[in-house]
Amino acid sequence: MFRFENVSQPPLQHVSFTIEERDKVILFGPSGAGKSTLLYLFNRLRDPEEGSIYFQGDPIEDHPISSLRKKVGLVLQAPHLFPGTVLDNLKYGPALFNEWDQRDPKKLLEYVQLPSSFLEREVDQLSGGEQQRVSLARTLANEPDMLLLDEPTSALDNRTAEDIEDVLESLIEEQQLTMLMVTHNMRQARRLGNRGLFISDGALQEDGRIPDMLDAPSTEALSQFLEQ
Ligand SMILES: Nc1ncnc2c1ncn2[C@@H]1O[C@H](COP(=O)(O)OP(=O)(O)O)[C@@H](O)[C@H]1O
Ligand SMILES: [Mg+2]
Repeated sequence: MFRFENVSQPPLQHVSFTIEERDKVILFGPSGAGKSTLLYLFNRLRDPEEGSIYFQGDPIEDHPISSLRKKVGLVLQAPHLFPGTVLDNLKYGPALFNEWDQRDPKKLLEYVQLPSSFLEREVDQLSGGEQQRVSLARTLANEPDMLLLDEPTSALDNRTAEDIEDVLESLIEEQQLTMLMVTHNMRQARRLGNRGLFISDGALQEDGRIPDMLDAPSTEALSQFLEQ
């Protein structure tokens, strides 16, 4: 689905890997290693200084950016909502493509386990966990093929984080999504991931299966990271 060839964008240097359809990838590594930078390369919030990225077989820049971002949805650590109601937020993406009348707003809330009464609620009056669900629903409204998740639960308490995990686990399965998630939570990594990418010192140090990587790291860098 994605192929990175010798991609450099500071702090990342010469990174190569591929992501297959339906991979569930956990991206991990020390703070400042370039995890967010790597994520942003997938939907062109950043472009490589060197190297090439291919999406569905074609150079990523050959895809119109709006359709790329529709197919490859991003959810950040802090909910990215604009002022207004939940409904306003859900409508925004699909309306750009004149597809809102094909969406079912109640269904979108159902996916993230919120009641339909939330449609008329103002987003600034929701809790952090509720806002994160709405952010996810807003991304799902675009009917993406892939989800990019940048520490989506790290601002939430454990209980709320596990609720969001439940939602993600069932959505990814039902909608056959490809996932790339940054997390520092290794319990979460084991639950949601089937593949791991470990980056450190600007390089991709390990690319393997979860839980093998976590149980038997093959590099010293990963062993040390996991001990901390
Ligand atoms: N041109 C550059 N040269 C070197 N380092 C850079 C450059 N641009 C950004 N950085 C550094 O790269 C890091 C960005 O990492 P980021 O992708 O946010 O890491 P992570 O998400 O893994 O914490 C920051 O520490 C930033 O200072
Ligand atoms: Mg980051």
